[in-house]
Amino acid sequence: MKELLSLNIYFKRYAAKMLFGIVCVLLSNAVGVYVAVFVREGINEASYHSNTAVGIGGDFLVKPALMAALGFVLLLLLVAALKGLFMFLMRQSIVVVSREVEYDLKNDIYQHYQQLGLPFYRSHFTGDMMARIGEDVSNVRMYVGPAVMYFANILFTFITIITQMILVNTQLTLLVLLPLPLLSYSIYRVSKIINRRNADIQQQLSTLTTAAQETFAGIRVIKSFGAEQFFHQDFSEKTAEYKRLNLKLALVNSLFFPLMILLVGISTLLVLYLGGVYAAEGRFSPGNIVEFILYLNMLIWPVASLGWTTALVQKAAASQKRINEFLHEPVDEDLEKGNPFDFQESIQFKSVGFTYPGSNKPSLSQLELTIPKGSIIGITGKTGSGKSTLAQLLTAQYLPDQGQLLIDGESIENFAKKSFYQSIAYVPQDVFLFSDTLANNIAFGLAEETADSERIEEAARKAGLGREINSLPLGLQTMLGERGVLLSGGQKQRVSIARALIRDAAIYIFDDCLSAVDAATEASIIQSFVNALQGKTAIIISHRLASLQLADQIVLLEDGQIVAQGSYNTLLKENEAFLQLHRLQSTEN
Ligand SMILES: Nc1ncnc2c1ncn2[C@@H]1O[C@H](COP(=O)(O)OP(=O)(O)O)[C@@H](O)[C@H]1O
Ligand SMILES: [Mg+2]
Repeated sequence: MKELLSLNIYFKRYAAKMLFGIVCVLLSNAVGVYVAVFVREGINEASYHSNTAVGIGGDFLVKPALMAALGFVLLLLLVAALKGLFMFLMRQSIVVVSREVEYDLKNDIYQHYQQLGLPFYRSHFTGDMMARIGEDVSNVRMYVGPAVMYFANILFTFITIITQMILVNTQLTLLVLLPLPLLSYSIYRVSKIINRRNADIQQQLSTLTTAAQETFAGIRVIKSFGAEQFFHQDFSEKTAEYKRLNLKLALVNSLFFPLMILLVGISTLLVLYLGGVYAAEGRFSPGNIVEFILYLNMLIWPVASLGWTTALVQKAAASQKRINEFLHEPVDEDLEKGNPFDFQESIQFKSVGFTYPGSNKPSLSQLELTIPKGSIIGITGKTGSGKSTLAQLLTAQYLPDQGQLLIDGESIENFAKKSFYQSIAYVPQDVFLFSDTLANNIAFGLAEETADSERIEEAARKAGLGREINSLPLGLQTMLGERGVLLSGGQKQRVSIARALIRDAAIYIFDDCLSAVDAATEASIIQSFVNALQGKTAIIISHRLASLQLADQIVLLEDGQIVAQGSYNTLLKENEAFLQLHRLQSTEN
């Protein structure tokens, strides 16, 4: 339960509105009691008139009886209207506060997510993160809004109704209240079962959603392998389980109301019987019996909701615990902390070694490499030789676990992240496009500045997208669809390149950025945009040697180690491995 204390800052923020809502709960209860009081008076009045009317036998006395009845009807209408007004105001304040808190909480969690470092994202599932910002926040909202509202309501109803009942008859009050705790407790138990089954359903639903999502994302592969049947089979097993769980829930749900009505019925019977006996003894008026039954009915909902509300609070506490787990994850340290990054001289790998967390084989070892400012470095090697790992170290996504990676003699981790990332333009091997326009996907590279369309077009043309700008229906304003489905692999890669080229960075890193186009096209696009980078430092990773001809220095990696290093022509003359690779690739094309 103490997990819920972390919500107090939000309660404080909306304290005035919340308090107003609680006062409305109080007023609606105070007014509500008069329904029973007026009904009692009305019935007593009517029975008095009917008794005397019988005695005299004339119908002139019906008139005052009618007038009295009409008076009570009007009073009852007034009470109902007032009660309605207060209930409206109560919901308008408390439920509104719960939505405000939900909004704040979602934003706070989202902001926190954004500040968490990459290691967090490597070790958590998307579905789990979605659940905590979605489902869990909804559960917490049920506590902030409905649960608080119902608790206030229960409390005030108990106080007002039970006082009224005792004023009428203490003995009867105690007798009819006896079954109520039992009602409350059984509803609490049933609610717990309902919540547990609901959680199972949620779990299964998320499995189902993930499966469906994966099918849609991979539909091309599924169709080309003719695997529809297999996937359908898998999906229908999952939906069958989902149905089974829902039916289990429906069973408990159907027990809920009969149970309530049974226990309420017992109390009503008690009132009718004992009330009748008291009336016969003259201790009770007929109006008192009806009044008592009305009180009992007013108590039922609060008593029922006590169990339900308790279960709600427990559920909210569990959810808040899950939310707090993420909120307490340490964020990446201050992005502004550290030395401002201003690249002047060189990047130096000094005997750098790196093993991925959880892996037992080093992906890079004994790496010695100096990249002077303004030079173009080509990195090549077979798949799995460590090229991308090198790029990840250069972009500080991982820190070397052996040796040192220095920039201008300073260890890479000492730079302020913000200025470091501003000076680096990185085209990762896996392209990610947003479901937005071509222009916005490129302008994304600028982060904080706003780009004019000329600058976007210039970057797009440099990245070899000239033809696409002319041929796409709306040019740069064309929507690219989810993850850029409208584009071919090679086109997507060029958008990713344009995103980097639009930046005014000091260091550019291209990781196999054109693997989806043919070798000749790759070489010519790289040639043109690297020439346009004039004086900047560029690291070009490609498994095709032809693309690296313009590099000042080429590094050949094998199993995470440098096996050859030098200019293209030197390597061709002096290095056997390089020459073989060159021959192999020349005949391929
Ligand atoms: N996230 C990771 N976790 C564990 N091992 C990895 C990870 N990424 C790459 N590796 C391993 O590191 C080695 C180098 O991979 P990588 O740098 O991607 O090679 P390249 O880019 O040259 O194809 C490979 O053996 C690969 O299996
Ligand atoms: Mg790679």
